[in-house]
Amino acid sequence: MTRPGRPGRHVLVLGGTTEGRRLAGELLAAHPTGLRVTTSLAGRVAAPRLPEAGEVRIGGFGGPAGLADWLREHAVDLLIDATHPFAVRVGANAALAAGETGVPLLALRRPGWTPVPGDRWHPVDSLAEAAGLLPTLGSRILLTTGRLGLAAFAHLAEPWFLVRSVDPPTGPCPPRMGVLTARGPFDLDGERALLREYRIDVLVTKDSGGTATAPKLTAAREVGVPVVIVRRPEPPAGVPTVTDPAEAVARVGALLFDTPR
Ligand SMILES: NC(=O)c1ccc[n+]([C@@H]2O[C@H](COP(=O)([O-])OP(=O)(O)OC[C@H]3O[C@@H](n4cnc5c(N)ncnc54)[C@H](OP(=O)(O)O)[C@@H]3O)[C@@H](O)[C@H]2O)c1
Repeated sequence: MTRPGRPGRHVLVLGGTTEGRRLAGELLAAHPTGLRVTTSLAGRVAAPRLPEAGEVRIGGFGGPAGLADWLREHAVDLLIDATHPFAVRVGANAALAAGETGVPLLALRRPGWTPVPGDRWHPVDSLAEAAGLLPTLGSRILLTTGRLGLAAFAHLAEPWFLVRSVDPPTGPCPPRMGVLTARGPFDLDGERALLREYRIDVLVTKDSGGTATAPKLTAAREVGVPVVIVRRPEPPAGVPTVTDPAEAVARVGALLFDTPR
C-alpha cells in the first residue's frame, strides 16, 4: 500500500469498553503530532460514552470484508481490537480483516476476575448454562449480563429477575422481572444497598474483568450470595495482546514510530 504525502499514522480502535474509550486520549497525548486515531463504536447503546479525543465513527462495517475495505480506504496503519471480551464476532472480524489487508492487529483485553476466599462462584460457559443452574440456587436474581442475552432466561417462570442494563431490554424477557437502567462504574456501598434492597440471593455476571463493575462481586461475597459467572470465550488465536491502555500506547509507539517507514 503506498501512502504518498500522508501527514501521519492512522490507528483504528475498535471500542465499546472503558479501556477502548481511554485509549484514543492516551495515544494522542503520547503522540500529539503525527498520529490520527479513530475510535469505532458498534452503536448498540443509545447514548454511548465517547472517547475524549480523536475521531469517532459509529456502526458496523459489514463483516470482515467491510472492515478490510475501511482499513484500506482510510489508510489505517494499525488496528487495535479494544472490544469487550464477549464481543466475539467483531474480534474474529478484526483478525480476518487484518490478515486480508496486512494491517497489524493488537488486542487490548483487560484480565478476567479471579475468585478469592469466601466467593461462591459457579462458573458456566454460556447464558443458557447459567439459566439452567438458577432454579437450584435462588429465587431473586440480579442479572448483569446485558439486555441482549435475556432470551436465555425467558423460559424461567419462577424466579424474579432484577435486570441491570444500560438501555431498557427489548425482545424476549423472563416473565417476572424488574429493570434498573444504569451504567457503571458502580461502587461498593451502592452494590451492598442494591443486594439488600431487592433481597437478591443470586448474582449472574459475565467475567468482564476490570474495576468498574467488580464491587458487585465483593458485595455478593460479603453476604454469601452465590455468583453464576460466565467464562470468557476463546479470543482469536495468534493476536498479540496487551492488558491495559498504557501498555497499548507503548506498543503503538514501538510499532509505528520506532521502526522506519
Ligand atoms: N458483548 C458484551 O457483553 C459487551 C459488553 C460491553 C460492551 N460491549 C461492546 O458492545 C459492542 C457490541 O458488542 P457485541 O457483543 O454485540 O459484538 P459482536 O457480537 O462481536 O459484534 C456484532 C457486530 O457488531 C459490529 N460491531 C461490534 N463492535 C463494533 C465496533 N466497536 N465498531 C463497529 N462495529 C462493531 C460488527 O458489525 P459488522 O460485522 O457489520 O462490522 C459485528 O459483527 C462491542 O463494540 C463491544 O465492545 C459488548
